[in-house]
Amino acid sequence: MTATRGFGIDIGGSGIKGALVDLEKGQLIGDRLRIDTPRPATPDAVADVVAEIVTHFGWDGPVGITLPAVIKKGVSHTAANIDPSWIGTDADALFAKRLGRSEDDIAMLNDADAAGMAEMRFGDPAARKGLTALLTFGTGIGSAVFLDGKLVPNTEFGHLEVDGHDAEKKAAASVKDNEGLSYPEWAKRVNRYLTVLENLIWPDLFIVGGGVSKKSEKWVPLLDIRTNVLVASLQNNAGIVGAAAAAVEGIEH
Ligand code: BGC
Repeated sequence: MTATRGFGIDIGGSGIKGALVDLEKGQLIGDRLRIDTPRPATPDAVADVVAEIVTHFGWDGPVGITLPAVIKKGVSHTAANIDPSWIGTDADALFAKRLGRSEDDIAMLNDADAAGMAEMRFGDPAARKGLTALLTFGTGIGSAVFLDGKLVPNTEFGHLEVDGHDAEKKAAASVKDNEGLSYPEWAKRVNRYLTVLENLIWPDLFIVGGGVSKKSEKWVPLLDIRTNVLVASLQNNAGIVGAAAAAVEGIEH
């Protein structure tokens, strides 16, 4: 049986968003529900919000859930922009228990990996050929790398050291806001970051995503790098869509 509907939840530093997803079109069905991320965002507090969202939609099928963290076999291993108590948490087991499901019905994955999976399935077909690197610019920088459409999970290129700094501390979209940078000023930093990255992995294509990709005309044309740059087509909902797809396809790593 091929499911045509799925359910995805995207856990971020400021909000937790969930929605029903049409897996043929790669679009949300109806409105998404967003609830502020609890503070502190401990695993138990976040699990309560996730359960509230799933209950709100009356969904009883498999659930895909993203975290801004390295996820291996359902366990979260990092916490750059989330509560440190996530490190070592078996997120798969936590959400399965809280949602009354088996662990097979929960797909945990990194937020950028989820966004990338959505782009691979529903975005520009050109991205499925060769080496594509998707970068999400938000609170941090997330990365998702695909070879001929197949994910190389947990790449964490947002933490590449660039000119002596953790890249996301200089080039994330949040830094633009916090330091009051203009688009041209921020684009320079993104340019430097992408230059370092392209010299290391020689991708065929970069896809840039995250909320700031909605204003792509203000900064993408300023980039002067070797690799072609495409703007993500799913933008804000890519994480939800990718998570829902992962839950149905049973993709775990
Ligand atoms: C985290 C990544 C995440 C990215 C975007 C980084 O700080 O280490 O796991 O994908 O932020 O949220």
